[in-house]
This record gives sequence, structure tokens and C-alpha cells, in this order.
Amino acid sequence: VKHLLGIKYLNEKDIHLIFETADHFKEVINRSIKKVPSLRDITIANIFFENSTRTKLSFELAEKRLSADVINFSAGQSSVKKGETLIDTVNNILSMKVDMVVMRHPNPGAGIFLSKHVNASIVNAGDGAHEHPTQALLDSYSIREKLGDVAGKKVVIVGDILHSRVALSNIFALKLQGAEVKVCGPKTLLPKYIESLGVSVETDLRKALEWCDVANMLRIQNERLDISYFPTTREYTQQFGVNKKMLDSLDKEIVIMHPGPINRGVEITSDVADSKQSIILNQVENGVAVRMAVIYLLASKIK
Ligand code: CP
Repeated sequence: VKHLLGIKYLNEKDIHLIFETADHFKEVINRSIKKVPSLRDITIANIFFENSTRTKLSFELAEKRLSADVINFSAGQSSVKKGETLIDTVNNILSMKVDMVVMRHPNPGAGIFLSKHVNASIVNAGDGAHEHPTQALLDSYSIREKLGDVAGKKVVIVGDILHSRVALSNIFALKLQGAEVKVCGPKTLLPKYIESLGVSVETDLRKALEWCDVANMLRIQNERLDISYFPTTREYTQQFGVNKKMLDSLDKEIVIMHPGPINRGVEITSDVADSKQSIILNQVENGVAVRMAVIYLLASKIK
């Protein structure tokens, strides 16, 4: 397979191979070796049609650490604004002898569409409310690092499940690895088909936190809400926001995750986000090694 379009297209063995490769790259980074020569003959274009901080910088750093040549494209400053299509845009970039395209796009399935129309390896860096495969991989990798294994762990994903590509990719990845998955959020932000994915539903946050080993807190995807799904932000926070008092009242210490960007004081308070229970910045750190692994393994198919 020369693309990473979604976790849906991977199996458990693929995930283990990515993690073992990421372990190697993490060890290399930890030895303060900033660059390995693996991909000196590969050129990668990062094309982003939606805003990003973590994913864009993390991919760019991963590519540079592998010694690939890197070009960056932001739709907002491009000829997309003059009406150029996605296929024309990408084919023009590819005519400059680009081997791999890392793409973020607001439309679900944009990467799948592109993979059928252009001759390059495509990595999905988030397609609308569909999938964000590298986020789910780095999330599972971080759970494995913190708790030793993903299999058998109880993970609750809290928040706007309906509009979250992070939720869907995490559900696929966690289930493949044998974790138990629960989702928790307002009924209006839970897709009707959610239980068919093999996850259970809890609308009481306290019960969900009492059950889990890990809580992955999501933000409300305001940019994807066409109507109001919840009365007010204050009410959302009262029912689905996690705070220190709530965590301290549990009879065990759970691991707190968040893919970012955080809305401090809405889905998570600062004293939780910055606490020792939080692995939020470890997730970001691991993102570089995991993306190095993904790019390295895909590049071996196109060399
Ligand atoms: N987690 C994540 O995708 O963050 P960015 O939108 O900043 O890339």
C-alpha cells in the first residue's frame, strides 16, 4: 500500500510495524541525532487546505529529520483562490517531481479521491469529519508508551464525536488493538451509527471517567457546526468539561489526553491539561516519530 488514507485501511500488524519503526526513530531523536539520511532522494509536498499547527509542523519536521526535500503549500495563499481545482493543483505540484503528498482538506474523502487521480503517495493529514489517521496512531502510541500496551485498556473519547475525525480514527485504531472504547458526549453530538462501530455510549461524564483508564478529551468542532447542537458553551462545560476536582474525586488516577487545539476552560481546565496526569505534550512529541515512521514505510513502496 503506498497511501495512508485512513485507519480503516490498516490492520493490527500494520499498526505494530509503524510503532516499532517509530520506536527506532524516537530512540534516534532522543540520542540528539537530528537527521537521518533515509529519504535523501524523496520530495514531499505538504498541502493544507485547512488550518493546522501540530500536524503541519510535525509532518514538516518528520520529513526534514528523514532528509527528504520538503515544499509547503497553504491554500489560502495559492491559486486555489483563483479557482484552480484540487486535481489541477496537485498535478502541477507533482510535475515538479514530487513523490509524496501530505494533505489536509475540509472535505471527507478528499485524500481517497486524490489517490485515484494522481500518481503519488497520498497521506491523509485530516479530511473533514472523516479520518485523521496519524493523530490516532500517535494517540495509541502514547497510550502504549504510558501504560505499556493498548490491548485491554479502557478508553473514553469525550465531546463532539459527530464532527470529529480524531474520534473516528481513534475508534478504528483502538478497536484493532483490542482496547475497550466508550464515547461520551451530548446525544446531539453522537452519530446514530456509533454503536455499530463496537463502542458503548455514556452520557454521564462522571460514570465514564470512573470506568476508564484513559480519557481523550475533544473540543467542539465549531467550524463544522451548521446549527447549534448544544444550548450554551457554559452548559456544555458543566456537563462534559473535565476539571481537577472531578479527577481528584475518582478512586484511581486516569490518563488525560487531548489532540489539541485545547479550549481551556471549556472541555478541560488548565489545572487538568497541565497536570501530571496529562500526556498532551507527549502526544505532540510522539507525533514526530510516528509520522517519521509512516513516511519512511510509505517511501519504501515508491523508491
Ligand atoms: N491535532 C491536530 O490535528 O492539531 P492541528 O489542527 O493543529 O494540526
